[in-house]
Amino acid sequence: MATDLDAYWMPFTANRQFKKSPRLFTRALGMHFTTDDGRQVLDGIAGLWCVNAGHGRTKITEAIQRQAAEMDFCPPFQMAHPKAFALAAKVAEIAPAGLNRVFFTNSGSESVETALKMAIAYHRVRGEGQRTRLIGRERGYHGVNFGGISVGGIVANRKMFGTMLGGVDHIRHTHDPARNAFSTGQPAHGAEFADDLEKVIALHDASTIAAVIVEPVAGSTGVLIPPQGYLQRLREICDRHGILLIFDEVITGFGRTGAPFAAQTFGVTPDLMTVAKGLTNGAVPMGAVLAKQSIHDTFMTGPEHLIEFFHGYTYSAHPLACAAGLATLETYADDGLLTRASELSGYFAEALHSLKGLPNVIDIRNIGLVGGIELSPRAGAPAQRAYDVFLDCYQAGVLIRTTGDTIALSPPLIIERQQIDQIVGTLATAIKRVA
Ligand SMILES: Cc1ncc(COP(=O)(O)O)c(C=O)c1O
Repeated sequence: MATDLDAYWMPFTANRQFKKSPRLFTRALGMHFTTDDGRQVLDGIAGLWCVNAGHGRTKITEAIQRQAAEMDFCPPFQMAHPKAFALAAKVAEIAPAGLNRVFFTNSGSESVETALKMAIAYHRVRGEGQRTRLIGRERGYHGVNFGGISVGGIVANRKMFGTMLGGVDHIRHTHDPARNAFSTGQPAHGAEFADDLEKVIALHDASTIAAVIVEPVAGSTGVLIPPQGYLQRLREICDRHGILLIFDEVITGFGRTGAPFAAQTFGVTPDLMTVAKGLTNGAVPMGAVLAKQSIHDTFMTGPEHLIEFFHGYTYSAHPLACAAGLATLETYADDGLLTRASELSGYFAEALHSLKGLPNVIDIRNIGLVGGIELSPRAGAPAQRAYDVFLDCYQAGVLIRTTGDTIALSPPLIIERQQIDQIVGTLATAIKRVA
């Protein structure tokens, strides 16, 4: 297919550089993409942290095809279709105990906006309307909409976009290579970073704060694993002050850390949880917010004919997404994928940490089937070294992802041991070559 590359303004892409030397995928199956010139590329990042069951799963494809023929669209406001209820119930079944009310969106970013609005509205409904402040974390990524970039902590995602939301503050990030470099699993040091929340509370007063939002494992700023005891401490502080704790599980949801959700891996249950990506195996856009029943029930007051929560999207619970979601959860269950990362994490960790000692490798971090390899930046050219590794790996047939000078790995949960070896071997060669 002859392609004019001009019209498409690509997201989060160096457009001019890309269009000089495009990288196009035309097919995907199992662990592999096929390029437009027919090469096989091993997917080391599950597309974009979403294709957890691997590409082209027949059950999911057929469910979408059937649904498109049966009913293409159903209005989600004041109407519904059976698969929306079925999917919500199935999600609640695998969710951390108590998170059994599910509000559908179409992306991670929309899930974040929904959760933030839910938190503020919840306090208002129960008579504490002054709790409007939202607390995020440095280096946090919560999508690209205004609420998400406001609580987020990635400078490049914020600085171009004006004043964003008012009434937002941030706690420190947990990255502490001086004490934790080359940790396997949860680093030993840094639970006390959670005490930053006490400082923020002392500054603003708890009575003004609606919620704290964090990623249990931060992905987009370079794979930051929570220190031992850190999330527990955040939970305790939130409980002490009546503040809702929101986990953004857009990348950690659906098996990435070795349990269905990172909340279960780390034994800490939030009040609200955002998900997307793996919910439909990436096949149809969909996200969701999971809420504690008590939060949901707080809204269920007033005259019954009135809408309780003035929020929703035209495509909330889209029939194609619900069909894909149901088939995806069945596929995960059939293949035991929601816990497979825990079986492979030891092998994955050992393979990753074998890269220690290669030129410029300054840290390696991992949990479940998430890996981060941090390189020292080239003088005067931050992110360039990792980007060169990315290009080298792509040429050698492995798709990785980089953020700054950190290489992030999140392969489909169907990955086999020899494919882990292939990713790590290709990386080793590339890291040496671009040194
Ligand atoms: C933690 C987290 N939250 C939110 C998002 C945004 O999701 P989306 O790109 O589907 O809007 C992402 C995307 O990577 C994410 O990693």
